[in-house]
Amino acid sequence: MKIIFDEEKKVFLIHTNSTTYGIAIVDGKYVAHMYYGKYLDERDLRYLLREDEAPLVPSVNLREKGAFLDCAAFEYPETGMGDYRESAFCVRSQDGHRASELVYTGYEIMEGKPALEGLPSVWGKKEECATLKIFCLDRLLGIKATLLYSVMEDSDAVIRSVFVENQGKESVYLEKVLSACLDMDDRNFQVLGLFGSWARERHIQRMPLGYGRQNIASLKGESSHQEHPFMALVTPGTTQETGEVYGMNFVYSGNFIAQAEKSQFDSVRMTMGIHPEGFTWKLEPGEHFTAPEVVMVYSDQGLGKMTRTYHDLYRQHLIRSPYLHKKRPILINNWEATYFDFDEKKLLEIAKEASELGIEMLVMDDGWFGKRNLDDSSLGDWFVNEEKIKGGLNNLVENVKKLGMKFGIWVEPEMISPESELYRKHPDWAIQIPGRETTQSRAQYVLDFSRQEVVDGVYEMIAEVLRSADISYVKWDMNRQLATMGSSALPADRQGELYHRYVLGVYRMQERLIRDFPDILLENCSGGGARFDPGMLYYSPQIWCSDDTDAIERLAIQEGTALVYPVSAMGAHVSVCPNHSVGRVTPFETRGDVALLGTFGYELDITKLTEEEKTLVKVQVEKYHKYNDLIREGDYYRLASAAENRYYDSWMIVEKDKSKALLFYVQVLSRANVKSRFLRLAGLDPDKRYQVDGKEYSGRTLMQAGLRITPEMGDFRSRTIEISMCQ
Ligand code: DGJ
Repeated sequence: MKIIFDEEKKVFLIHTNSTTYGIAIVDGKYVAHMYYGKYLDERDLRYLLREDEAPLVPSVNLREKGAFLDCAAFEYPETGMGDYRESAFCVRSQDGHRASELVYTGYEIMEGKPALEGLPSVWGKKEECATLKIFCLDRLLGIKATLLYSVMEDSDAVIRSVFVENQGKESVYLEKVLSACLDMDDRNFQVLGLFGSWARERHIQRMPLGYGRQNIASLKGESSHQEHPFMALVTPGTTQETGEVYGMNFVYSGNFIAQAEKSQFDSVRMTMGIHPEGFTWKLEPGEHFTAPEVVMVYSDQGLGKMTRTYHDLYRQHLIRSPYLHKKRPILINNWEATYFDFDEKKLLEIAKEASELGIEMLVMDDGWFGKRNLDDSSLGDWFVNEEKIKGGLNNLVENVKKLGMKFGIWVEPEMISPESELYRKHPDWAIQIPGRETTQSRAQYVLDFSRQEVVDGVYEMIAEVLRSADISYVKWDMNRQLATMGSSALPADRQGELYHRYVLGVYRMQERLIRDFPDILLENCSGGGARFDPGMLYYSPQIWCSDDTDAIERLAIQEGTALVYPVSAMGAHVSVCPNHSVGRVTPFETRGDVALLGTFGYELDITKLTEEEKTLVKVQVEKYHKYNDLIREGDYYRLASAAENRYYDSWMIVEKDKSKALLFYVQVLSRANVKSRFLRLAGLDPDKRYQVDGKEYSGRTLMQAGLRITPEMGDFRSRTIEISMCQ
């Protein structure tokens, strides 16, 4: 890790262990992009700017400044001056103009990495990070923009954000403040993104990048089920091991846009940031605005290397929870077991049976508060329903503890039911536009988390519940998207700040929760996996991945999620069959194996399992204890994708020192008259010998010739195979 400035050539080089990012100052004022890719030890990269090619730089050919602006590669392009590609920055002045020119004024290279005020961000010790700050100024408006680039000693990521200050005399309106822009020559790139829906989150899709703009975005007020704040540009034919990959992932949980644009000159501009639609931010003189971070990862060894770079960075420098490197208690959640139809007796029956099988925590899901017996009331009434939980919460928790189990609870702090005491008391706390029908979704409104008194009011109610009993875990849910955006606390010219202020309010409350209750294990959730993003990971070490708990549907969901996020963060449970989302019947063993690639737990009425299934629960519990350290901390290698090949799925987790690995293989569909398959493993030491099923092979053999996998009768069969280095 090193950041260098060549004073004479006016060139910045940002090096990680195996990548280089190059920036140059052109004509003393433009911040131009030179290079991003594999590590280069060459210091003179200025030729990459093509300064001697038409239309030449403005100091030589002022006549063609527009042509220069529209074809050169920039770090942070603004609107309105002649670069007609997607801009990263747009500001409206008091007199209504939208042009700005951020001119280079200086730089600072510092040790460490600054935290971003009110926002989740990558962190690290001072000596393990370095940051480049490039200062730019729009002289007419007095708007200063600081472009931040941070790198870490042990990572190949480049982390970017932007800090904007109004040093002028008049207030301005920020209309777009993206966090990162990357201009490159096209290499026949393809766009890879994660797409889906409720119960079908984060399926990988790859598409060719043609001329024009292709974007991935959310305007739902959260990162969303449908599109995901991640985009990669990959060279054609990129596999897990080969090909070039440029990944961008947004450390943010609200509206976003990620875009790739191919221009007339076959250059590609990749951008990411807060979606400008529905966004304006008034900046008074002296005020500042911070754009959330984008984590950029370049890999010259395919998707696998990119994945492992993200996993390691997030496990070492993003997730803060004290539980991150610990085995989490195996939980049983009552949602799919009972939905709203439960009482304390039913919960205790589940807990009793579960504790006998080695399950360690009972999680009481939705329906324990107010008058909630369906999803049509009581959000906001955060006090226990004693008709359901007779004897009260503390009594229930103590009884669960007597069984040797911990206790966890579900909440949905951001929401308010029109049918609730809270709404009757504070109707103005809901996000709404006066005179317009407020959009309901799942019979609920959204609380105006841009207002501190709303966040404080809800926080106090929930904190009271958490203080009232020995609660070890909280599942924070969020079950609808935002709409009819209006805040009674914001003036007309600040209504465009609501989406972002809402997200900041959520972050403030999560921050407070983990500060006041440091021992509580927090799991985020949003109607399944609609807010599985790095922003939320900063606060919680795990996130519920999807409401679809079917093991086969989960293969694609978990494959897409694990493309970017550590498997230790993926909430995954064994549930009952026929599965409640798809009606599929899968072997109990397969459900266990798929859930092992995650936080692992159960979500079924355990009192109704057969004796054979109960025995299998014990086996799975043992397997979890045996392998969780490896799965949580190891390196993840994707070997095969059923989403691509239809028939089989496979992945491996390899211990960092390569001494041990666990191979997962799922035969999705059985086929007649087929031979065995040689599955090429990955991540092992080629020169060491390994034991597999009582036989010895070299790592090289297993990776080049492959391990023989024989077909089985029946669909949806899974196998886990231990691979250990010979002593
Ligand atoms: C959506 C979550 O994803 C489910 O697990 C469950 O908690 C329900 N909400 C409860 O309303």
